[in-house]
Amino acid sequence: MSYKGFRDWLQIIDRDGGVKHISGVDWNLEMSGIAEIVAREGKKPMPALLFDDIPGYPKGYRTMCGLMNSPLGLATALELPLDGKTDMMSMLQGWRSKMRGRQPIPPKLVTSGPVQENVLTGDRIDVLKFPSPKVHELDGGRYIGTACAIIQKDPDTGWVNVGVYRSMVIDRNRVAIHILEGQDGSIIMNKYFAKKQPMPIAIAIGVDPALWAASLVKMPFGLSEFDYAGGIKGEPIEVIKGPATGLPLPAHAEIVIEGECYPGELIDEGPFGEWQGYYANLGLKKVPEPIVRVKTVLHRNDPILTCATPAAPPKDYSLPVCFIRAGGVWDTLEAARVPGIKGVWNHDEGGSWYLTAVSIQQMYAGHSTQAGMIASLATGAFGRYTIVVDEDIDASDLSQVMWAVSTRSSPARSIQIMKNTPSNSADPTISPEEKAKVKVPPKPLFGSRCIIDACRPFEWRDEFYPVTRVSPEYKAQLMEKYKNLFKELM
Ligand SMILES: Cc1cc2nc3c(=O)[nH]c(=O)nc-3n(C[C@H](O)[C@H](O)[C@H](O)COP(=O)(O)O)c2cc1C
Repeated sequence: MSYKGFRDWLQIIDRDGGVKHISGVDWNLEMSGIAEIVAREGKKPMPALLFDDIPGYPKGYRTMCGLMNSPLGLATALELPLDGKTDMMSMLQGWRSKMRGRQPIPPKLVTSGPVQENVLTGDRIDVLKFPSPKVHELDGGRYIGTACAIIQKDPDTGWVNVGVYRSMVIDRNRVAIHILEGQDGSIIMNKYFAKKQPMPIAIAIGVDPALWAASLVKMPFGLSEFDYAGGIKGEPIEVIKGPATGLPLPAHAEIVIEGECYPGELIDEGPFGEWQGYYANLGLKKVPEPIVRVKTVLHRNDPILTCATPAAPPKDYSLPVCFIRAGGVWDTLEAARVPGIKGVWNHDEGGSWYLTAVSIQQMYAGHSTQAGMIASLATGAFGRYTIVVDEDIDASDLSQVMWAVSTRSSPARSIQIMKNTPSNSADPTISPEEKAKVKVPPKPLFGSRCIIDACRPFEWRDEFYPVTRVSPEYKAQLMEKYKNLFKELM
């Protein structure tokens, strides 16, 4: 049987030493500042940080940063064996082979769940009762939704989408949401607004980590993240029917905010420091975004508000995003029937999107270019650099990848540039002036992509210069002979 929701997952990783309990830290810049510093400069692996006794809030009203940012947290969430191994490529292979055998499982409607321990309607609605962090010094507000899962239903087909879209607190009963153009959530929203209908929406926080993992990666349009998360767990996610919206709400979530967005009703949102490490939307300007008018707030007793801290890398949610997105790119390569893929990694240096490395066993002329082009476009609107390396390079190790780039690629031969590729307003290489024209009237934004073929040249790969490195056999011998010395040094 799988763990039941966020709280159960937390208990498991806490038991196994994966949680640091912290008391008395302020919501105003302090919690997120600590999470950012620890993620970048702290000991590895990073524990999940559970903040309690937050000044101005009742004891028990907690926040958590860095969820799933350790192999323990991630493996527990995805129910993968750790086997003492923390090597990412083996874990990614384990994840992919697990999911290959899994079918999506639709959610199960239940009549009650812990999220209903407190149900606030009418005058009792107050989203300010939770210790939402102000995340960065230049941010324009407090964000209740970062490590959240936003639920919407397609008005034409009834398909339910779940995506991670940031949500800023405006006042007791209003929240602003930021959904990038082209996202499934934006396509659904535009359908309601084109019909001049309000859009029911729910912001779920502290959801089952398997559901969060499903929500932060592109699913085929029409496949619900609820079903995919059920497939991860091998049993359905339990949902209750939202009292105000009828949407399926995770029964074990910590907090759910239900409401509606109305066509044309916008409010200034941001600025907010983002995943690429910049205020990349429109710099420090506020941008009008849709308002959620809150109809119900549901929460568990002593709720835990899960948070993510976007920043210059590495950040407190690098591991889950790099891991899950790399799995998605690898799936696309396999679906496109590209053979010989040995590893894929979406590097945090590109915000887990702008820099992808693919390792292949070269089999035919043009194989590396084919792999590079498909991997590049598999990142949707977010790709930029894709590096293809040989099978002896670990795609998740940037030092090895850059060694291959600087020694096996020759710029005139090995770099290809694609123009007019998809992009969006999160792209820090597009000027604010260009972006400002996007919203009214709608104007597409283009990017460009680069593929670096850092494989040994196919035609003479067998004659390529031998690598200078201790062989695995000799390494094993040495490590056995000088066991004690290596124990001290490694
Ligand atoms: C912490 C975090 C915050 C995110 N914030 C946003 C956001 O504010 N807007 C957005 O469009 N995408 C955001 N994303 C990316 C989307 O979740 C991701 O693109 C996902 O695939 C969107 O779901 P969709 O494909 O169903 O639209 C965020 C991802 C993470 C992990």
